[in-house]
Amino acid sequence: MSIKQLGIELGPNFREHNIIGYSEKISEVVAIAKTVAPTNLSVLISGESGTGKEVFAQLIHDLSERKNNKFIPINCGAIPEGLIENELFGHEKGSYTSATDKSKGYFEMADKGTIFLDEIGELPLASQVKLLRVLENGTFMKVGGSSNVKVDARVITATNKNLPKMVAKGTFREDLFFRLKAVTLQLPSLKERLADIPVFVMKFSSDSAQKYNRSQLIFDKDALSEMMNHHWKGNIRELKNFIDMLTVMETGKTVTGEIIRKYLKTENTASYLPMIIQDEPKRDTDLIFRTLLEIKSDLNIIKKFIIDIYSDKDAPPVYGSNVKDILTSEREIVPTEELSEKDEILLTLKKHRGNRRRAAEELNISERTLYRKIEKYGIEL
Ligand SMILES: Nc1ncnc2c1ncn2[C@@H]1O[C@H](COP(=O)(O)OP(=O)(O)O)[C@@H](O)[C@H]1O
Ligand SMILES: [Mg+2]
Repeated sequence: MSIKQLGIELGPNFREHNIIGYSEKISEVVAIAKTVAPTNLSVLISGESGTGKEVFAQLIHDLSERKNNKFIPINCGAIPEGLIENELFGHEKGSYTSATDKSKGYFEMADKGTIFLDEIGELPLASQVKLLRVLENGTFMKVGGSSNVKVDARVITATNKNLPKMVAKGTFREDLFFRLKAVTLQLPSLKERLADIPVFVMKFSSDSAQKYNRSQLIFDKDALSEMMNHHWKGNIRELKNFIDMLTVMETGKTVTGEIIRKYLKTENTASYLPMIIQDEPKRDTDLIFRTLLEIKSDLNIIKKFIIDIYSDKDAPPVYGSNVKDILTSEREIVPTEELSEKDEILLTLKKHRGNRRRAAEELNISERTLYRKIEKYGIEL
């Protein structure tokens, strides 16, 4: 059964620009975005991951007079702290050893256009000052530079963090926070807009079929209600990826509730048993750590043992040549030469019925040396 047969149609109004959805919550947000788009007001978009923050930032740009200039999306959380000012504001020639030319930062690239700073909560405090200055008077200084650069870039920011909390903790500047939130767009999670799920499913399965060159999946009623009852923690992004996977794995099939349950069950087991899932890696880590410590301590014993043997110059070679012999010997190793010498003396003495002179003669040593060796080895006849 297709979505059409279910009475849901992807009519011409199923989406506004790239924003899919009919639900009241999303319609409200779209209305605010459309109102502020033609102005130069800063917009702060907040919402869980995967709720469409970037999609909205792009929409605002597309509906503004800046639409023919650049839209530059930057993820502040993905740039190493030490590089962020360089990336955003550029650097002056010579400020880095490798810098051979003036380098433009993203702000200059976004001149007359829009810069979208995603994960703004990750911006280090030092860079927050610089950002505030651009917002207040449209100027900044390049890294290593001494003169002001003017720029006309609209700033849209986004976060899934609680900025007021960060302000209270002192990790986000209050003045910047107020400057950024001239307009705020609070994006609803997918849980708050369940009614939009069938439309997303239809649009995404049509896109996936094209992308992977497969026939478009058909979903039965049960399948749709399973997806509407599921908690998509990764919101629209997760749902989209799920449909991509289904398009490939279930090509040509009518997707039933059972098929959906099969795929979502594995995930549910995980979310219903958070303790097990969270404890397991820790237990594993503890075990690995303990084993490593044991191995380390064993290695130290072996190392010490080997060093003892070889640093003792007087010590004769070790009897037995493999590691097992060394490890199991508890250092009561009898040097090969001594053993054979003792045995040799013993055997020769026995041969000559204890006659030491004859034995000494045969061993080609003096009688005195033989006496010494008999004493040394504690030979008793
Ligand atoms: N309203 C929407 N209509 C269509 N696609 C959307 C919508 N919201 C999000 N998406 C899609 O979901 C994914 C995540 O969106 P994104 O804007 O990157 O989320 P966020 O920045 O909040 O993590 C993208 O593939 C995007 O195209
Ligand atoms: Mg994003």
